[in-house]
This record gives sequence, structure tokens and C-alpha cells, in this order.
Amino acid sequence: MAALPVLEDLPPLDGRRVLLRADFNVPVHDGVITDDLRIRAALPTITWLQEQGATVVAATHFGRPKGTPDERYSVAPIRARLVELAPGVELLENLRFDPGEEGNDPAFVARLIEGFDVYVNDAFGASHRAHASIVGPPQHLPSAAGRLLAREVEVLTELRERPTRPFVAVLGGSKVSDKLKVIEALLRLADEVLIGGGMCFTFLKAQGHQVGASLCEDDMVDTCRRLLDSGAAIRLPSDVTALGPGGAIGDPSAGGEVRQLGVEVPEGWMGLDIGPGSSAEFADAVLDARTVFWNGPMGVFEDPRFEAGTRTVAEGVAESKAFTVVGGGDSAAAVAQFRLADAIDHISTGGGASLELLEQGDLPGLAALRGETPA
Ligand code: 3PG
Ligand code: MG
Repeated sequence: MAALPVLEDLPPLDGRRVLLRADFNVPVHDGVITDDLRIRAALPTITWLQEQGATVVAATHFGRPKGTPDERYSVAPIRARLVELAPGVELLENLRFDPGEEGNDPAFVARLIEGFDVYVNDAFGASHRAHASIVGPPQHLPSAAGRLLAREVEVLTELRERPTRPFVAVLGGSKVSDKLKVIEALLRLADEVLIGGGMCFTFLKAQGHQVGASLCEDDMVDTCRRLLDSGAAIRLPSDVTALGPGGAIGDPSAGGEVRQLGVEVPEGWMGLDIGPGSSAEFADAVLDARTVFWNGPMGVFEDPRFEAGTRTVAEGVAESKAFTVVGGGDSAAAVAQFRLADAIDHISTGGGASLELLEQGDLPGLAALRGETPA
């Protein structure tokens, strides 16, 4: 495989205009950015480009506005934060306001690159999307991976190809169907895969347990059973924390009893976190590992009654002497919420992208930078 071109491979940049594709798809509530990790993570690239004398114009998607301008998805709050952190950088309006972005329309690519001399992709979190701004510009302009993209690829490739063992993966999240491919890939790469989060109930049901009103994908039960029967190194929780009838997630005032159960969840009860026994077991496994990859919360950690599993696993990951990688999205948010980010070796800025890179070893955005034209 050709090497990924990096910033040093670009032609001289003094006086040049650089189109920087970033992933500034940050969480925003009531117009306020609640976590600016993805903006800060692009700063080393921006600073380097500016030091070379380039003018940097950044572009990002934000949310899923469906190919049409929509005020709710304006990049204005992101632009405001960006210029605070990196004066002199411009930010184009949301790429997804045009259907050509997701449709990978050559005419949109042509408009996007007009007036630019160079393209830099630092949008790791979006590089699994074969969208116009990711795969188009490298066909026309001298192009390179930014610092963030290059680092993400280096870390995740290392995990995939040369992990120090034992390698323990911890997976959570709500749906088995979303993560099946990645579970299978991690079973090939890691020594053990620990499964918590909403998706553990589909596995528990496959083992013949009662799951009550917990999340469960009935059409995935057979698949889970086949995986478990194959002798795969999967570890499931041995206890769960559940909410009784009448309770509401995120609203303790609604009532409803919270109980620690084994793995049988009675009718009307909803398992919403792994239990204290499993949390301790999962944390121990992580502490004994030499490489750890964690993606997906262990429970509904936004509700303090169901955060203990995620917090205990996060503390284990933070404390572990292993090389620790947290893959994007909710687990990165959890690590930030528990103020443990500094103790993690690498927090990926990509959720879907980090999983796809681990699974497939490549992404459309990387192939484009290497000069491979998409089929
Ligand atoms: C993300 O946050 O997952 C990335 O920015 C990609 O966004 P998307 O899932 O809407 O393509
Ligand atoms: Mg996504």
C-alpha cells in the first residue's frame, strides 16, 4: 500500500491557499458547543500551515441537514470558537447544505476547490464517508493528511497490526446490528472482547436469559448465539442494574425502583447498566491488559443512576498501564465527563471512522489521499 502523503510532502505553501477538510461536527446544545475536542484537535495542522505562510480555509459538515440550507445546522457557533482558537482561519458554511457533498458530485467538487492550490484532509471522523469533500479534491490538487488524521491512522493501524498482548477490547452501545462487523473484527484482533451497554441484552437473551423490558434486537439473537457457540472470546456481564416499572430514563423524579440484579431481568424491568460485579471484572481485565480499545458506554451514563458501569470501566482504562485507546463519540464524551481524558493514551476523534478503520484497515478518505481513484 502506498504511504499516506503528509504535510511535509506538500509543495511550498508560502502565499498559497489551502482547503482544509476538518471534522468540526461537535456537540452543540442551545447554540453552545459542549465539547470542542474536534476543533482543538485540528490546531496543530492549522498552525503548521499558517507557519508555512499559507492561507487556511476550513470546511466541515455539521449534523445531517439533508442537502439543503437549514439555520439549525449553521456552522456559526463553530466558526466563532475556531477563530478564538486559530485567528485568521476562515470556515465555509456547512458542506451538507449542498446535496453534492453526500452525493459525491464532481460539479460540487469543482466548485469547492476553485481558487485553492492545495488540499489537506484532517477530518478523520468523516474519512469513512465517500463524500465529495473527502474523496474529490485529491484527484485535482496536491493533497496530504493533516497531523490529526496521520496520528489517528498510525495509532489504529498499530492496534490492528501489532498490538502488545493481552489486547482487551471493551464494547458498548445500544445495537448489536450496528456493531456486528466490528465485534467480529475485534474477535480476530483482540484476546478478549468485553460486551456491555444496551447490546449485551441481545447476547444475554441468546444465552437463554430473561431480559424483561431491556433493549433487545430479537432478529439478532440467533447471530449472537452463533457467535457465542463458536467459542469466541466474548465476556458478558454477570450482573446488571435495572429500572423497575413506572421509572423513566433521565428522570429520577418519575419514581421507579433501581435494583442490582443478576442476569435475569424480570418482566417490566429494564437493564440500563452493567452491575457492580461486572464493572469490577471488566475493570480488572482492562488493568491486566497491555493494549485496550474501548468504544461505547456500558450503560445510560447520562442518568446518574446508571453511570457507575461506564465510570468504573473508564477509571480502569485511565489507571491501566496498557496502551489505551478510546474510540470516539459517547465513550470519548464519558471520559471527558469523568475528567479522565488526560490519563488515556489516545482518544480518537472518530466514532464510526475508528471502528471502520479497525475493521477494514482502510478508509475511502485515506485511499483518495494515496491517489487511488474510487471504483
Ligand atoms: C460523526 O460525528 O460521526 C462524524 O462527524 C461523521 O458524521 P456522520 O455520521 O453524520 O457522517
Ligand atoms: Mg456518526
